[in-house]
Amino acid sequence: MDSARAAIVTGASSGIGLAVARMLGERGHAVTLVARRPEKLEAAHEQLRGEGLEVQHVAANVGHEADVIHAVAAHRDRYGRLDVLMNNAGVGIGAPIGELDAKRMDIQLATNLRSIPLFYRESLAMLTAAGAEHRNALVVNTASIAGKSGQAWLSIYSATKFGVVGFTQAMNKELSGLGIKSTALCPGFVDTAMADFVKRQIAAEEMIQTSDIVAAVAMLLSLSPGCVIPEIVFERPGGGSLV
Ligand SMILES: NC(=O)c1ccc[n+]([C@@H]2O[C@H](COP(=O)([O-])OP(=O)(O)OC[C@H]3O[C@@H](n4cnc5c(N)ncnc54)[C@H](OP(=O)(O)O)[C@@H]3O)[C@@H](O)[C@H]2O)c1
Repeated sequence: MDSARAAIVTGASSGIGLAVARMLGERGHAVTLVARRPEKLEAAHEQLRGEGLEVQHVAANVGHEADVIHAVAAHRDRYGRLDVLMNNAGVGIGAPIGELDAKRMDIQLATNLRSIPLFYRESLAMLTAAGAEHRNALVVNTASIAGKSGQAWLSIYSATKFGVVGFTQAMNKELSGLGIKSTALCPGFVDTAMADFVKRQIAAEEMIQTSDIVAAVAMLLSLSPGCVIPEIVFERPGGGSLV
């Protein structure tokens, strides 16, 4: 189908990804929603479709190269263009370094970091076409404040998110001249299911809200072609030891 603008959002079945997908849909993007669990993804799809938005969903594990290739191909087949790519799927598995489990380490590396270059590679032709058309193709990579400051017991998660920030910098050096801009988002605790484990110490309403992330992505969409914002750090007021 023909759509004025189109987007892919990974990790779109809940939390940050679902909120940003809704905003993109409301702003006229046709959106491909990507996440692993089909039932949860279908529920998100039905919710957005019920709100009148143009969406499709592709169940995929972004840690698997074949799934990434399939997800981007499904987007290309249905919408034919890509103006916004949000690499947002992520997992955090805490462990002290002495109890490091290689399998859990690999899951975090593959989901949080390795998936992102694969999505760029597969999407590059569509992003290049969008960049040539309007100089404002946008890739948003969800990192974390743990990608700006190493976190104890979340060391592998931190390392993957530092990797996301660095990879985003590299992509701006490589692609921003083509009108493909990349931004890493680095939030502290956001009120989503991923932060449930800490809600006994920090009330949900004191966390960063998904609406804050949505506002930042909407701001990125409104920038002129001459402006690139490589990263945005979101802090909670008051500092303290918990990010
Ligand atoms: N919440 C926070 O405090 C916080 C802070 C900083 C950064 N972040 C980052 O924000 C991003 C979004 O997380 P969230 O807070 O919105 O949590 P969330 O509500 O748990 O959402 C995570 C999303 O990622 C999907 N996902 C997980 N593993 C996947 C995989 N291998 N392949 C495809 N999809 C996968 C999940 O669906 P399935 O499980 O069904 O696949 C879900 O849609 C993550 O990258 C996270 O690291 C979160």
